Amino acid sequence: MKIVIPGGTGQVGTLLRRELAAAGHEVVVLSRRPGRPGDIPWDGVNQGPWAEAIDGSDVLINLAGRSVSCRYTPANMQAMMDSRVRSARAVGEAIASAARPPRVWLQMSTATIYSHRFDAPNDETTGVIGGAEPDVPDYWAYSIEIARNWERELERADTPHTRKVALRSAMVMSPDRGGVLDVLLRLVRLGLGGPVAGGAQYVSWIHGHDFVRAVEFLVERDDLSGPVNLAAPNPLPQREFMRDLRAAWGTPMGLPATKTMAELGAFALRSDTELLLKSRRVVPGRLLEAGFDFDQPEWPTAAEDLVRRVRGYRGAHHVRSTARFLN
Ligand SMILES: NC(=O)c1ccc[n+]([C@@H]2O[C@H](COP(=O)([O-])OP(=O)(O)OC[C@H]3O[C@@H](n4cnc5c(N)ncnc54)[C@H](OP(=O)(O)O)[C@@H]3O)[C@@H](O)[C@H]2O)c1
Repeated sequence: MKIVIPGGTGQVGTLLRRELAAAGHEVVVLSRRPGRPGDIPWDGVNQGPWAEAIDGSDVLINLAGRSVSCRYTPANMQAMMDSRVRSARAVGEAIASAARPPRVWLQMSTATIYSHRFDAPNDETTGVIGGAEPDVPDYWAYSIEIARNWERELERADTPHTRKVALRSAMVMSPDRGGVLDVLLRLVRLGLGGPVAGGAQYVSWIHGHDFVRAVEFLVERDDLSGPVNLAAPNPLPQREFMRDLRAAWGTPMGLPATKTMAELGAFALRSDTELLLKSRRVVPGRLLEAGFDFDQPEWPTAAEDLVRRVRGYRGAHHVRSTARFLN
């Protein structure tokens, strides 16, 4: 298949590109700063020659959007919103005017769309969309507005020959540098990977391998459209999540952090505490109902597998760079 991935240069795109290309597909990435052979330039807003790459393709997976790992200043929040809404709109327009549109458009969304809650998991049918929770900072509602507007662009697009799916994804755990797991492992190595603000808040996650398998599953299943949660079936409280990651890495100690300490840390890392403090309890209702089988449903074994991959990956890179040095 020919698979086009706008915004495919980041963490999720790197993973998808690697695995989909290895499976024999032709993968074309749209980027504002194309760096690899075959990447196509676009600006994420206006129509242009890039739209020709979509005409005649089989699958479109739109990942474009300003990184959410930043300080949530008004300017950054506006950029997070605009980059997602405008790029989804541009993709929709390109599909609508294609002579041979792709048969499916998978639009990235986020598990953050659901409410901050502890009492019960959110699936697509009974889950509560967030935005009206008491006792959370007002600006958390903005992340939900971003996700809603993102999905609205997908719904609104007039693409009658293209099935549309919104990927409400949890944190994608892959061994690549710069991804979420890399950041968490850095904290673990520094002895800082303990509970944050008590650690009762739920963490939803998905192993990168299952994320790619779920994408392939959704491409194949013509009967599935609309929002689909991409999360392992067993989210867990942050204190247990970090305990299992520390055990997998072999660092039993992890200093606990108060909310204030987390705020200082997030400030130092130019990030935001919403990423740490919001309780994301999200489960894959529709995927399970459709018969998707997770290879890594449990975090302790997924964490062990990921740590093995990180060590193997870095070991291989070390061997390659040493060999280059010796030559
Ligand atoms: N990583 C996760 O665990 C996770 C979980 C749930 C949802 N998501 C969402 O999934 C998407 C992909 O995640 P990721 O971790 O791969 O993100 P990422 O590493 O930040 O990559 C997103 C890509 O979007 C493009 N981009 C950035 N700003 C843009 C703008 N203003 N206009 C158009 N394109 C822009 C960039 O590509 P160029 O610079 O090459 O144009 C960038 O490589 C994001 O939208 C993210 O919010 C991620």
